[in-house]
Amino acid sequence: TPRLRILKRIIYGTALGTISYTGWLMYRNRNPAEQQPFDPSKKTMVLLGTGWGSTTILKNLDTENFNVVVVSPRNYFLFTPLLPSCTVGTIENRSIMEPVRLLMRHKNREVKFYEAECTDIDAEKKELVLERRKSSEGQTEKIIINYDYLVVGVGGTVNTFGTPGVEENACFLKEMGDARKIRRRLIDCVEKASFDHISEAERDRLLHMVVVGGGPTGIEYAGELHDFLEDDLAQWYPGLADRVRITLVEALPNVLPAFDKKLIDYTQSTFSDNKITILTRTMVKEVKDKSFIVQNPDGTRSEIPYGLLVWATGIKSQPVVNKIREQFSAAQTNGRGLLVDEYMRVKGAKDVWALGDCALSGYAPLAQVAAQQGKWLSRNLNKLSKKHAEDPDADMFALIEKSRPFKYSSQGSLAYIGSEKAIADLPFFNRNITAGGIATFWFWKSAYLSELFSLRNSTLVASDWVKRYFFGRDISRE
Ligand code: FAD
Ligand code: NAI
Repeated sequence: TPRLRILKRIIYGTALGTISYTGWLMYRNRNPAEQQPFDPSKKTMVLLGTGWGSTTILKNLDTENFNVVVVSPRNYFLFTPLLPSCTVGTIENRSIMEPVRLLMRHKNREVKFYEAECTDIDAEKKELVLERRKSSEGQTEKIIINYDYLVVGVGGTVNTFGTPGVEENACFLKEMGDARKIRRRLIDCVEKASFDHISEAERDRLLHMVVVGGGPTGIEYAGELHDFLEDDLAQWYPGLADRVRITLVEALPNVLPAFDKKLIDYTQSTFSDNKITILTRTMVKEVKDKSFIVQNPDGTRSEIPYGLLVWATGIKSQPVVNKIREQFSAAQTNGRGLLVDEYMRVKGAKDVWALGDCALSGYAPLAQVAAQQGKWLSRNLNKLSKKHAEDPDADMFALIEKSRPFKYSSQGSLAYIGSEKAIADLPFFNRNITAGGIATFWFWKSAYLSELFSLRNSTLVASDWVKRYFFGRDISRE
């Protein structure tokens, strides 16, 4: 019938359009256009970091009116929400890493990248001290570069609260190197536990996996670990799987303090079904190489043996942030980060902005906050740079006040809790809707798939999920 024919044409047309658009994206990705060279007559904007904040700026910044320099100890962007999946091999590491040079090579003007850590700043001279690794033995070299405008997006670093033994004995879950280390140690524990020649107490110790911190990082990691034990370990180490124990230790009365009460209860009951022990009101006081000491709810202390311990108790300031604060000590009075105003200007500074986890802007340290700040700042810098091109003396740092101040719009919170279940706390017409379960898990998957940085990342993550479904996770130790 004619209607059916029209429908067929629409379907064929859409499919053809999607295939052509994807093909064009892939072609453009592999074949970037010629770039304009660095222009000494233009101002230099230095971006510190290649995380959510700085990379969003780099992606959206118009390089027509700036020379852009990026400084970061890692030459890639990391999609942190899926990092817990890399600790057990649900997703392969490179699937959530995007080389920053791919992004830089697509800008109109050449962008410089220094794989180095910024360690100090001289705000008077507008100079930055960079430290780059010179050799694999850990030798470093100092370099000094200048900036006209500086954007600080260095994130945070793991907070151990000075707990003895954590740095030496625990694994963190912040960077890709951490996920790699966890995966290696996990397989190490299981392989060692499969020897006949060890005592039963030693076998139980090796198979006791501990997570410290019941925030979203600790919860997602415990969920992934449970899936690995259930789906893979049980098949390949049948004699051991039943003896593996997972314990999550949280100092507060419940896990996930930032989530809705219903979702906290749902998570705790899912963990209980999955035989994950949650110790609340229990604080880890020391981590030794084979055991850790906790303060129990009644104030007594106990020593508990473990094989693998993952420390996920939140973040604190990077050392360079403290150096920047020292330069503007009169205005920078909070040790937790850089105080910024509603235009993301570092208080007390000139021509320095900060965003993301290193900035104290009144919002939680979240990827979505850093990304929205990055979008806001790049949009306004693009507008101002046009004014700057007309009048080189225009003061962008002062003029940004003419823009509408930054306001964060929450897209809600999602977290994976294991056994193909996720929880969601989503804003909906000035109300929050909460959901947990398998449907939420599929929503979680599709949301993250669509948010991944590039078509390449989305393709790799989707294929990892399919691969895991058919072949299971890879249990070889790298
Ligand atoms: P980051 O993304 O941490 O980037 C900092 C960058 O600065 C890095 O490139 C780093 O190498 C670089 N750097 C560090 N020191 C220096 C230096 N001295 N000089 C130059 N560069 C430096 N948030 C959500 O909203 N949703 C989630 O689902 C979510 N899941 C998470 C899961 C995990 C496991 C973790 C650890 C975090 C998660 N977060 C999530 C939080 C989110 O990742 C952070 O809020 C976000 O990364 C902050 O972005 P940022 O740009 O400020 O810093
Ligand atoms: P967090 O700060 O959210 O939670 C850390 C937890 O560790 C706290 O509940 C704290 O009480 C506990 N703790 C601290 N010291 C302890 C000790 N000695 N013993 C026992 N418990 C201790 O940290 P997290 O989970 O690393 O998250 C950091 C940021 O990243 C947060 O803003 C979080 O919202 C965000 N994030 C968001 C995710 C999501 O939305 N899915 C996933 C992961 C992180």
